[in-house]
Amino acid sequence: MSSADVSAAGSASGVAETALADLPLRHDLAGRRAYGAPQLDVAVRLNTNENPYPPSPALVADIAAAVAEVAGGLNRYPDRDAMALRAALAGYLGHGLTAASTWAANGSNEILQQLLQTFGGPGRSALGFEPSYSMHPLISQVTATRWIAAARSSDFSLEPAEAAAAVAAHQPDVVFVTSPNNPTGSATPIGVIEAVCTAAPGMVIVDEAYAEFARHPSATALSLLQRYPRLVVVRTMSKAFALAGARLGYMAANPAVVQAVHLVRLPYHLSAITQAVALAALRHSGELLSGVAAIRTERDALVASLRGIGLAAGDSDTNFVLFGRFADRHAVWQALLDRGVLIRETGPADWLRVTVGTPAETATFLSELKRIVDGGAATVLR
Ligand SMILES: Cc1ncc(COP(=O)(O)O)c(C=O)c1O
Repeated sequence: MSSADVSAAGSASGVAETALADLPLRHDLAGRRAYGAPQLDVAVRLNTNENPYPPSPALVADIAAAVAEVAGGLNRYPDRDAMALRAALAGYLGHGLTAASTWAANGSNEILQQLLQTFGGPGRSALGFEPSYSMHPLISQVTATRWIAAARSSDFSLEPAEAAAAVAAHQPDVVFVTSPNNPTGSATPIGVIEAVCTAAPGMVIVDEAYAEFARHPSATALSLLQRYPRLVVVRTMSKAFALAGARLGYMAANPAVVQAVHLVRLPYHLSAITQAVALAALRHSGELLSGVAAIRTERDALVASLRGIGLAAGDSDTNFVLFGRFADRHAVWQALLDRGVLIRETGPADWLRVTVGTPAETATFLSELKRIVDGGAATVLR
């Protein structure tokens, strides 16, 4: 093609025209759809399990001061090992963890991606118990790791013997256990995680994104790290720490696992600003965790209210509730959206997921949902 042809083919976006289908895409990405929970500008947004409470004025001031402090040094790359932040995260987690047994990245999704780049990949497989977090299969696939879907029981629970049997049958290189589970909401008993660790030939990743919201927060897989060197516990500051916009996820694991992840991490992956913001938030953990306690109370009330209007709602160890069951869940989702309430159409068919909002947001959601159900616009499956 001559340069004249190229400019003739140029599009309104200022670049030469082409289409996704015409690009030399990796074969295993063909036909895939990008992650895309709707980000809509509506009054009540209860769809991505964010914390409804913005940072307090005191935390905002601390973040601003911390960012101002690092701003003068932004001509330099950040501490690529994020040692101060990792030490602070280890201190927050307890269980005898240190900076060496802790690692941080841009959201726990990046941690999961680094783990799959390190322990998955071509010719390898990852197994998860579905329904569960949709990004586990997606990140597996983009790292060319074969995904194996094992099933939870019809009530979404997981038994130690069944979980161990699935792992033994498939011999996956990586096993995911989400606890508390998204989107079903309940925590996975520690006995299940022990059984999986015993049966697994490779790495076991326990995704504890919602750990702080659990009805028994002390039942964490962190307590198993002393016994299982191939266990990784992944956490995030997006939920309990109300810091989704800052993007900070982390993991606790044997220092050898942390060293292994260094093989795939990008140089200077965690900006100095992110590290400073996360450290500031950790200094306010007491205040943030009291917000978590309030959300837990709201959540339990939400479960009771949903049951009160004749719906099924699972007990929840998270900041969201799975409820249903509807003959046409999309119609219910749309009817709520038409009334300015955005929730999530995800997980098992017939069910919907709602994030716990502020008391006012939750009240709006409940009254609009009740109107939809009472008005006969939704067929509830009993
Ligand atoms: C189970 C689970 N793990 C991980 C994440 C990712 O969180 P982040 O990348 O914001 O840390 C989420 C987000 O909703 C989640 O539900």
